[in-house]
Amino acid sequence: MHSFGFRANALLTFSVTILALICAMASLSDNLNSPSPSAHVQVANINRFQKSRGNDEVSLTLNVSANLQSLFTWNTKQVFVFLAAEYESPKNSLNQLAAIFHSYNCDCASGVLSRAQVALDCILAFVFFSVVSLWDAIIPSKEQAQFLIQTKNKYRFTDQGTNLQGKEYNLTLHWHVMPKTGKMFADKIVMTGFRLPEAYR
Ligand SMILES: *[C@@H]1O[C@H](CO)[C@@H](O)[C@H](O)[C@H]1NC(C)=O
Ligand SMILES: *[C@@H]1O[C@H](CO)[C@@H](O)[C@H](O)[C@H]1NC(C)=O
Repeated sequence: MHSFGFRANALLTFSVTILALICAMASLSDNLNSPSPSAHVQVANINRFQKSRGNDEVSLTLNVSANLQSLFTWNTKQVFVFLAAEYESPKNSLNQLAAIFHSYNCDCASGVLSRAQVALDCILAFVFFSVVSLWDAIIPSKEQAQFLIQTKNKYRFTDQGTNLQGKEYNLTLHWHVMPKTGKMFADKIVMTGFRLPEAYR
């Protein structure tokens, strides 16, 4: 027969092992969660497409539907989403670069990338592309992560100098998942094959 002390010790070891296992599983489950978000965007209307003060400016009405519920786990605080129009343009304005740096600052804060790396990535990725943020939102809960909205572009879709007539563009839904603990992560869905009208209206 084992002594009481031996049994107590065995029980304690067993409990601590189980506890450690549960902790490991909890933090792993967050990493193992492979999200499968979906998004669909339609341009319901081009309200206005004009040259104003030398710059092409577009006003769109967008139908945005998305299901980002799978991004939410027990460890998710909130999700920041933004929809951007991305198109090729050899002449990048400083404004656009500033906007890109601004949107990537979130990643720097989480320590995922150093500022220098981000700067380099931005320059490599965006020298021949313009990225214009059209709409954004903060999704605070899983219940609100499935939505269907109709919205006009919240931010100006304008391009300094570049002619946007007949321009092909992609609409990209970007998201940043802000966890309660741990690293922030970001990803996107690219929707291709959009084109602006040939003529101003
Ligand atoms: C956009 O949504 C509105 C309202 O839900 C709907 O009436 C319209 O047909 C949609 N447009 C497109 C292009 O899907
Ligand atoms: C749109 O996205 C596709 C796929 O990622 C890419 O190959 C293409 O260059 C993009 N087009 C524009 C105009 O940004």
